[in-house]
Amino acid sequence: MDDPDQQPLASAATTGRHGRPSQQFRVRPALPRDVTQIRDLVQPYAESRILIAKELVAYYESVQEFVVAEDATGRLIGCGALHVMWSDLAEVRTLAVLPTWVGHGVGATILQQLLDRAARMGLRRVFCLTFEVDFFTGYGFRPIAGTPVDGTVYAELLRSHDDGVAEFLDLARVKPNTLGNTRMLLELPDPGPGTDAGSGTTL
Ligand SMILES: CC(C)(COP(=O)(O)OP(=O)(O)OC[C@H]1O[C@@H](n2cnc3c(N)ncnc32)[C@H](O)[C@@H]1OP(=O)(O)O)[C@@H](O)C(=O)NCCC(=O)NCCS
Repeated sequence: MDDPDQQPLASAATTGRHGRPSQQFRVRPALPRDVTQIRDLVQPYAESRILIAKELVAYYESVQEFVVAEDATGRLIGCGALHVMWSDLAEVRTLAVLPTWVGHGVGATILQQLLDRAARMGLRRVFCLTFEVDFFTGYGFRPIAGTPVDGTVYAELLRSHDDGVAEFLDLARVKPNTLGNTRMLLELPDPGPGTDAGSGTTL
């Protein structure tokens, strides 16, 4: 079956941000067998408080939110997730590229797949909390202040046990995690009539 998230091995940009020649990689939906490699990829960034540290079980629970990038040998070199928060809103989270692959277009390819997923799901807004402001600005994200939901939705989201949602709500208990981060929001274009959203396309 055709899967819009599946890609053939694709070459990154001709030269990476750090001037190294490009190498081949592929981005695909994550599978349960990828989870330990996802955890290993995220761990150094979590130790530096760039990304949230999570238990292994949390990765298994959310594996269907993830896409991963793998090199020509099948080794994971990047990951990212789209976490739905409300009827119109999701968060891009846990976007991480192996340091030796930074600057080769892996992050851009993963982000684009997550945004395509969001559009196919009929979402209208994508949030992220990040130190990488320039990277996300390149894809239309803009810095915001506060939490872009009304009081009713805010109250419902308060019931979540998810640390990422707590960060979105800017709760005191997660303030140490969010220090120095920028809150950013992308408004997706109105899909209009006759698009895939809701028509049974693979997400
Ligand atoms: C942010 C991150 C995912 C970028 O991944 P990457 O694979 O290096 O990015 P890409 O090579 O795809 O870069 C895509 C574009 O963004 C630009 N870019 C990437 N990182 C950038 C940065 N820090 N500042 C400015 N521009 C940046 C690139 O130059 C490139 O631009 P171009 O298309 O004009 O050449 C990666 O640096 C990372 O893993 N950071 C740590 C984790 C993190 O902060 N994640 C985000 C929060 S969820």
